[in-house]
Amino acid sequence: MPTLLQLDSSADATGSVSRAVTATFADTWTGLGDDHRIIRRDLHADPLPHLADAALHWPARLRRPGANPPAEAEALQQQIIDELISVDAVLIGAPMYNYSLPSVLKVWLDYVHVPGVTTPFVDDSQPMAGRPAVIISSRGGIYDPGSANADWDHTVPPLQIILGDALGMDVSVIKVSRTLSDVVPGLAVEAGRAAEELREGHRRAAELARTLGKP
Ligand SMILES: Cc1cc2nc3c(=O)[nH]c(=O)nc-3n(C[C@H](O)[C@H](O)[C@H](O)COP(=O)(O)O)c2cc1C
Repeated sequence: MPTLLQLDSSADATGSVSRAVTATFADTWTGLGDDHRIIRRDLHADPLPHLADAALHWPARLRRPGANPPAEAEALQQQIIDELISVDAVLIGAPMYNYSLPSVLKVWLDYVHVPGVTTPFVDDSQPMAGRPAVIISSRGGIYDPGSANADWDHTVPPLQIILGDALGMDVSVIKVSRTLSDVVPGLAVEAGRAAEELREGHRRAAELARTLGKP
């Protein structure tokens, strides 16, 4: 039963680009067959609390003496990790907020990156190794290679490092830029490119869903 975990994090309930593209991926995924399931988590509508205690970054056996994180926070973290480990693929809508991740998405990363549980530490535990993760990165401006702000994208790199390098997942990234070309006067000349990137984002999302979801 191919199961997808879909995480959305945009605070835009009506015109979100990342939500539109994750929806294309998800619709294609479920269209592949009745056995293609989706677990949806809207991190904006139903946000996780911030990590209650730094000790939660570690499993109990690796914590410093005296560490005593709240039991309910530990239980919630376990639920989030179990949910992740139960799926075959992960889809993440990741808008750029202040050159970085929406805080609600950062919190989810804080819950799931646990050395010795989801990433190798003194052992080689890496339960998500080899499973696909698809990141939909929507951003108002321009961060193309060679452009003035090319190095300012701090949205995609942490996701690639945590999901790819740490958890060992096979990460694909779809970037849709220039989404504010209809709002920011200086970006108005980019409207054509923006529309093109959006079309291409939907096309790649559908294509990836078909490739990753096929039996
Ligand atoms: C709080 C906030 C901060 C933002 N910061 C940036 C930014 O640093 N750089 C940028 O290019 N766009 C920025 N934007 C614009 C969003 O990246 C853009 O609207 C994108 O399409 C958001 O994704 P969404 O359409 O899925 O909501 C920001 C938007 C919001 C709401």
